[in-house]
Amino acid sequence: MVTLGIETSCDETAAAVMADGKVLSGRVSSSVHLHARYGGVVPEIASRYHVEYIFSVCKKALEDAKKSVKDIDLIAVTESPGLPGSLLVGTAFAKAVSFAGNIPIIGVNHVFGHILSCFLDVKDMDRQAFPFVAAVISGGHTSLYHCKSLEDFALIGRTKDDAAGEAFDKVAKILGLGYPGGPIVEKRAEAFDGDDVIPFPRALLKSSADHLDFSFSGLKTAVMYYWRSSSKTEKEKNKICFSFQEAVVDVVEKKISRALQYTGVERLAVGGGVVNNGVLRKRLHALSEKNKIELYLPKKKYCGDNAAMIASLGEKYYKLAEKKTLL
Ligand code: KG4
Ligand code: ZN
Repeated sequence: MVTLGIETSCDETAAAVMADGKVLSGRVSSSVHLHARYGGVVPEIASRYHVEYIFSVCKKALEDAKKSVKDIDLIAVTESPGLPGSLLVGTAFAKAVSFAGNIPIIGVNHVFGHILSCFLDVKDMDRQAFPFVAAVISGGHTSLYHCKSLEDFALIGRTKDDAAGEAFDKVAKILGLGYPGGPIVEKRAEAFDGDDVIPFPRALLKSSADHLDFSFSGLKTAVMYYWRSSSKTEKEKNKICFSFQEAVVDVVEKKISRALQYTGVERLAVGGGVVNNGVLRKRLHALSEKNKIELYLPKKKYCGDNAAMIASLGEKYYKLAEKKTLL
């Protein structure tokens, strides 16, 4: 079975071809350079970029996989959540191909796609991986799920304000470091060689009512106030980046630990753009070793938005014979 995955929920135009669970090809064209000067994604620019590139990205993904439209058995497309204009381009394009080629089409949840990105190399994940705790730590989402089966991903925690990746982006903006903030802040943190770490706040760690929820906007504000009265040297920027990153990683690690305790499961999957972060990856590996938890992380190329994760989930839904043909 050959599946064409299409992803256009934010600023990446992505297509991937999958055959029976194996990724044959994947193309991602990002409009990130066009948003950089604004310090965040401009929805209209993202939508127009998708319109311009969706056809060529899909064509190249098919060529790389040595497939043509005639070979496609299923189209899986991100239907939500995301920027409405951007989603519209992907779903309209997917529907057109589906209609023209008489190919079944499935709408897929983007956040659930990030969860599946952790299992792209895992054979038989449907049978072997469940139940597990999933965390999606990205620019748009910071959420925890108790995943009992492909049809049962229960939300158990989420951010009450900013997403973790969004906080990285905003901190980079405050420090005038560029966009997207995550990779830049990580590099700056690596360059910090002092031991005078700033004790930035770790939110919602004490409250039992919010014990699985996140909040990052106070941390971002704390960085802003610190920056205002700082000496504004490059060294100071590195220190702030290090201290901020520690605060985010601490909170993410602690909330995940709590989710594992709360659910009592022994498997963990963590996906999303922030999982590119080497410090977070190391902490998660340490957590898994210490607590004998089986850990699934996406390869770095599948942390950010991609279409392989969408194809994977779509194919699994289809094989489950679910009537999820929403479009
Ligand atoms: O998953 P993704 O590509 O898009 C969303 O679905 O949101 O995540 C993008 C986010 C951005 O906020 C970016 O700054 C962050 O992931 N990110 C990182 C790193 N690389 C990307 N955050 C921390 N460290 C990184 N190395
Ligand atoms: Zn995403």
